[in-house]
Amino acid sequence: MTKTIDMKALVLAGGKGTRLRPLTYTGAKQLVPIANRPILSYVFDNIADADIKEVGVIISPETGEEIKAVMGDGSFWGLNITYILQAEPKGLAHAVLTGRRFLGNSPFVMYLGDNLIGCRISDFVKTFRSSRVDAMILLKPVDNPSAFGVAEVDEAGKILGLEEKPVEPRSNLALVGVYIFSKAIHKAIDKIRPSNRGELEITDAVQRLIEMKRPVKSFILDTWWLDTGKKDDLLAANTVVLDEWFKRSLSGAIDDSSTITGRVTVEDGAMIKNSTLRGPIVVGNGAVVEDSFIGPFTSVGPGAVIRRSIIEHSVILAGAEITGISRLEDSLIGRNAKVVKCLHKHEALRLMIGDDSVVEV
Ligand code: G1P
Repeated sequence: MTKTIDMKALVLAGGKGTRLRPLTYTGAKQLVPIANRPILSYVFDNIADADIKEVGVIISPETGEEIKAVMGDGSFWGLNITYILQAEPKGLAHAVLTGRRFLGNSPFVMYLGDNLIGCRISDFVKTFRSSRVDAMILLKPVDNPSAFGVAEVDEAGKILGLEEKPVEPRSNLALVGVYIFSKAIHKAIDKIRPSNRGELEITDAVQRLIEMKRPVKSFILDTWWLDTGKKDDLLAANTVVLDEWFKRSLSGAIDDSSTITGRVTVEDGAMIKNSTLRGPIVVGNGAVVEDSFIGPFTSVGPGAVIRRSIIEHSVILAGAEITGISRLEDSLIGRNAKVVKCLHKHEALRLMIGDDSVVEV
């Protein structure tokens, strides 16, 4: 009897996150919080749920130390994490090349650390384990296929070809950032050359597998998928995660003149005074909400302070302060940023805004 080799996971957490500037000037995009948890936490939840224990995390010299400090050794999830430095951002297939020693001959799930999907990967992993394919890819119809890897699939679901960021896409099926590979992918990666953007593309490696007549299977993802690359994606991710995965849990201090409706999480150490909170909402530890109304789909980060304000459908990161703002919607406020109504001077906007910030007034 042949011994089955345990499946591993390779999480890609390098990259620059240019689309999420200015937030990513000061931190890794994979650590941007969705409902107060770093995106990578959801990735690890999903890997642990699929019963995978050995996880390699590809990090960059710029943000690797921060990622290590926040995510730790994986014991919180029962995972054994090995951090692997990719010295230069030379593409997703190059990241697999960098992780080759860690991966050995094992089949592995490759998971892009800024991708969030609305389902567990365990069924996907089970299907791979019971079939003899060399790659499984997930596809999702999108409106802007040119921004992704794109697959052309025939009526029977057979993949005809893949292309990275095509100018003239042959379908609207984008490659989701979760893949499963056998060791055959390494041979395919050895055969590809850098793309126009100078990167070794995993899309090209899977295309090579197809040309090598190796079995590649695709599935259409029937739940949501968020590639948290931009502000609106991030707000959408926050909305979906709060809506689908958060429960009512009130551990913080809530005074008698406050009203809490629906699925609201107030973490330990948070304080709610004379305010109305209408869920789904999460308020992080050490945060203070006073004389305010917080509406649905809002995350208030740890240590943030909100006073005399109305906020809805927004992500307020750790330590931010919002005071006297009559209505804040669809907003993303960075760590320790302040949005304050100034009562003492003549009416004017007084701003100190970081590079690449957007203010709509
Ligand atoms: C990468 C892949 C692309 C895939 C996308 C999913 O794109 O190259 O094929 O569709 O992730 O998030 P990138 O984030 O490098 O633009």
